[in-house]
Amino acid sequence: MNSQPASPTRRNFLVGAATMLGAGAMGIFPASAADAPESLREYAAKKGVLFGSAISNLQLRDAPYSSLLSEQCGIAVPENALKWAALRPTLASFDFSAGDALFQFAHFNNMLFRGHTLVWEQALPKWFQMTVNSVNARQIMLDHISQVVRHYAGKMHSWDVVNEAYRIEDGRPDGLKVTPWLQFIGPEYIEMAFHAAHEADPDAMLVYNENWLEPDDAIAEKKRQSVLAMLTNFRKRNVPIHALGTQSHIYAETNTTGPNYKRFLEQVSDLGLTILVTEMDIRDKQSNTDLGTRDRLIAKQYYDYLSFMLQFKALTAVLTWGLTDRYTWLAQAGSAAKGVPVRPLPYDEDLQPTPSWNAIRRAFEEAPGRSSRGGSA
Ligand code: XIL
Repeated sequence: MNSQPASPTRRNFLVGAATMLGAGAMGIFPASAADAPESLREYAAKKGVLFGSAISNLQLRDAPYSSLLSEQCGIAVPENALKWAALRPTLASFDFSAGDALFQFAHFNNMLFRGHTLVWEQALPKWFQMTVNSVNARQIMLDHISQVVRHYAGKMHSWDVVNEAYRIEDGRPDGLKVTPWLQFIGPEYIEMAFHAAHEADPDAMLVYNENWLEPDDAIAEKKRQSVLAMLTNFRKRNVPIHALGTQSHIYAETNTTGPNYKRFLEQVSDLGLTILVTEMDIRDKQSNTDLGTRDRLIAKQYYDYLSFMLQFKALTAVLTWGLTDRYTWLAQAGSAAKGVPVRPLPYDEDLQPTPSWNAIRRAFEEAPGRSSRGGSA
């Protein structure tokens, strides 16, 4: 697949980008650029790694973009369609139509599919607050997991069972975030969720997914320690958990390859857990207004971060949170509102590859191979 010659536009881009990244990059080009595989999915697959992206129903109606997704991705994850707000119009009902359409797209295009996310305190439906309390929360959570995971049983590469359960700023000694789930059920809601997911689909890879694990700072370090304590405890007591998802929404200017993060990833690997980069994109502080300068900084961070992550043989998949700046969730946030474009993804708003595309490709090309495709728990 994807063995057709590169389009002139993209071929020129590759040569141009190689020049820009310096002479060292030239050596990795095959004799004829036209013979090179042109998809990140293939560059990743050569090393036993999956590459993919978040997708949404709206995005798939954009034909040029949906064909780009099918060309570039070996795995896809619904950006919002499997969250409670989308799946649960009422307490008594489930609406799988959006999620099923995304699954069909992935399946038709020979992509794996992952689920995001079963338990999170955000993207809850309106009825949640009026309905859920300490008496019924446990049953409602377990019922949701059971029905949703059963619906997709045998079809999922992996499930983000619990998302972002830790927030050091909330001040609890165990580092847990204060959410309705915690308040209504207690800290054991996390392991209960994993047991319920495992029961509903014994073959699915079950993932704990977390944000802000990457920076080399004190808060992130406390979060890493809290998460590691949970993972260690779960492994010791045979709670069915198979992987850590590190979201990797990072900043270009932040050190995300520090020694403490490295040690953490080694410890996670030593627990026998798989590691997934689940939601990568890169913001920058936009201190320089020149787009070329910003793009080079962002591309360098893609290269540095992914080269670092790919050293870990436990890492089996890298997903970015979308492929194009046209639909990035970051466009609605903060600085973008000032009219400065954000450039967090490997394709710009016109679906042209940015230097980040080439940086990701280079990180895959230089990565050590691994046998696992991350397809099983
Ligand atoms: C974001 C989506 O991209 C947005 O469209 C939505 O409005 C809010 O959620 N961490 C996660 C994702 O786990 O689910 C979030 O996705 C981004 C942060």
